[in-house]
Amino acid sequence: MKILSGIQPTGRFHWGNYFGAIRQYIALQGHEQSFYFIADLHALTTIREPDVLRQNVKDAALDLLALGLDPKQATLFRQSDVPETTELTWLLMTITQMHLLEKCVAFKDKKAKGIAADAGLFTYPVLMAADILLYDSTTVPVGADQIQHVEVTRDLAQRFNTMYGETLHLPEAYVLDDSAKVPGTDGEKMSKSYNNTIPIFETPKKLRKIIMSIKTDSTAMESPKNPETCSVFELYRLFATPEAQKTLAERYRAGGMGYGEAKETLYQAAIVHLGEAFDRRTQLETSPDVVEDILREGAHRARAKAQEVLERVRSACGLLSKPV
Ligand code: ADP
Ligand code: TRP
Repeated sequence: MKILSGIQPTGRFHWGNYFGAIRQYIALQGHEQSFYFIADLHALTTIREPDVLRQNVKDAALDLLALGLDPKQATLFRQSDVPETTELTWLLMTITQMHLLEKCVAFKDKKAKGIAADAGLFTYPVLMAADILLYDSTTVPVGADQIQHVEVTRDLAQRFNTMYGETLHLPEAYVLDDSAKVPGTDGEKMSKSYNNTIPIFETPKKLRKIIMSIKTDSTAMESPKNPETCSVFELYRLFATPEAQKTLAERYRAGGMGYGEAKETLYQAAIVHLGEAFDRRTQLETSPDVVEDILREGAHRARAKAQEVLERVRSACGLLSKPV
């Protein structure tokens, strides 16, 4: 399998990102090709402050490495370090029919939310198609909301091949299991857009405060409680073994345990589960050069493949295979 996926550096990663995506990327590393990149070019469609973008890219790299992305088993790079991406985007744009992009739900949603509908946002799926096709990727792990973009990618590859002969490989989406939607502090789906996130890397003190703020119902301390309808329990499930889950569920049902105690149990479980990654991140923060070297080395490896594919594409559509 030739795996490729990108993640946008639009803010600090949260528990939803970890359980819904990052943990699964990490589980998939070590294949014939495991390419993961920080999609800073895509993020430019929504982040307009250069310092924020720079900081977010650094944080994203630190988070991914601390969580277990291993540069020996996977290639981690910044999207913008591979200029072949934007060239392929143009070449694909010349064969992209407008209606293909007009029907993209992500674009329509963002527009409805008031994000400026500029050409970058509109052509976002073509940039994503270039990301994917540039490495002959076979397998693209994505959340459900991105499946349509992988379909667009396949359509574009197919159209290119029909026009110019077999050149591009058709990828498949590998749908990440985000079915267990991680709830946020208000009980809704955890998302940056809803201001209800629990960041993966937070100081213990702040983390505790956020966990204590999770919304619960007003069942009295002594009364029995239903774990199945409680966000605290739902979050605890992500960290705890089946036996530990059973123990806490029984305490809910027995009554006599307040939500404060359940939250404390969740806090302790999170600290244990993420403690090692937290220490690794703290360590990595002190060596920014190491992180930068990993990204550079990653870009170097990614570009070698990108150049090979781009030469094929240039030549297929009538350009010199390499610029003079
Ligand atoms: P956000 O909603 O915070 O902007 P993104 O849309 O950038 O998050 O999500 C990046 C990845 O994290 C996606 O692949 C998505 O499937 C996953 N993800 C985000 N939030 C959740 C959640 N609450 N539960 C499960 N997966 C999630
Ligand atoms: N659009 C994806 C997202 O918002 C990120 C992304 C960019 C991506 N390029 C990609 C994902 C290529 C998979 C493959 O989540």
